[in-house]
Amino acid sequence: MHLLESLRADHAELTAIRRDIHAHPELAFEEHRTAELVARHLESLGIETHRGVGKTGVVGVLRAGTSRRAIGLRADMDALPIQELNQFCHRSTHAGRMHACGHDGHTTLLLGAAGYLSRHPEFDGTVYFLFQPAEEGEGGAPEMIADGLFQRFPMDAVFGLHNWPGLPLGHVAVHRGPVMACADRFDIEIRGRGAHAAMPQQGIDPVLIGAQLVQALQSVVSRTKDPLDAAVLSVTQFHAGDAYNVIPETARIGGTVRAFYPEVRTQVEEAMGRICAGMGAAFGAQISFEYRRGYPPTINSVPEAEFCARVAAEVCGEHGVSVDPKPSMGAEDFAYFLQEKPGCYVWLGNGPGEGGCTLHNPHYDFNDEAIPYGVAYWVSLVRRWLEPV
Ligand code: NI
Repeated sequence: MHLLESLRADHAELTAIRRDIHAHPELAFEEHRTAELVARHLESLGIETHRGVGKTGVVGVLRAGTSRRAIGLRADMDALPIQELNQFCHRSTHAGRMHACGHDGHTTLLLGAAGYLSRHPEFDGTVYFLFQPAEEGEGGAPEMIADGLFQRFPMDAVFGLHNWPGLPLGHVAVHRGPVMACADRFDIEIRGRGAHAAMPQQGIDPVLIGAQLVQALQSVVSRTKDPLDAAVLSVTQFHAGDAYNVIPETARIGGTVRAFYPEVRTQVEEAMGRICAGMGAAFGAQISFEYRRGYPPTINSVPEAEFCARVAAEVCGEHGVSVDPKPSMGAEDFAYFLQEKPGCYVWLGNGPGEGGCTLHNPHYDFNDEAIPYGVAYWVSLVRRWLEPV
């Protein structure tokens, strides 16, 4: 029987688990109920289970055969601080918290794969099931790495997936290279000299300098890097003054930078620093520039991406796999795993992104019809990577 067909037998149970997790969303590093649900489920399958890896993370270990080869499959478990606006029975029971990114689904898919592989251990090697906390901004992946993830559970490669609204059900998208961007933040403080607004010659106006600075920063993306390497620099905050007749002493500007390549990220940061320094010198103001690196870009390794595309084609058919569609300017802390190990992070079709069913929207819901495809993808990936020789 085709794998997808045999997985349909688990669909009702997995849907119930997914909806239970959806109804009980927990924020970053607070995933105590979710982690316990995961750990108990793994233990019920007879899988060696490690709690508290990277605070609230859980790792399951499943071995078969004699090979020393090993891979890690990762699911994220955390929810978002959003008030859910759906009315269905499994809507969030926690005010102001919601699984609006489908991590409830990701957790369920990996539990489904653990269940199937424990009953059908047709592979040779070790599978680590990585249930990661705190993907949404708090960095659960680096927390697991700092907790010795790759020393305690040595693996050759690591794999992840994310549901993707707008990608049809039963489809998988694979990128041979960058798939998600970095997410950096910057804060700039312009310190001029306050004065009477009617006597500007007595001051140094940080509002005027800030206005020119915002424009000058827009030249960074357009003029300092290769136009074929995408980047975004968005100024999203500009705070200055609170009176009509006062030139304020300071102005503050903040925003975000997104890029797909580490070199581009560095180029942008350096150019911003030069512009701030030059603008300060030109106007006689003090300009401080703070650039904080967030999640790095998520960059798949090419052989692993091509491997994943072949696996996805086995599950979804050739027509169900898109290779190298446009990457996303969103960010993902799976990037940290890919800095340590080769691997690949794919998008799994969640169906049409209609009626607010888009990521981080209060009307979003993970599509339970995607469960068999996601589980089949994980199971096939393990069987192919750890194929008995
Ligand atoms: Ni997400």
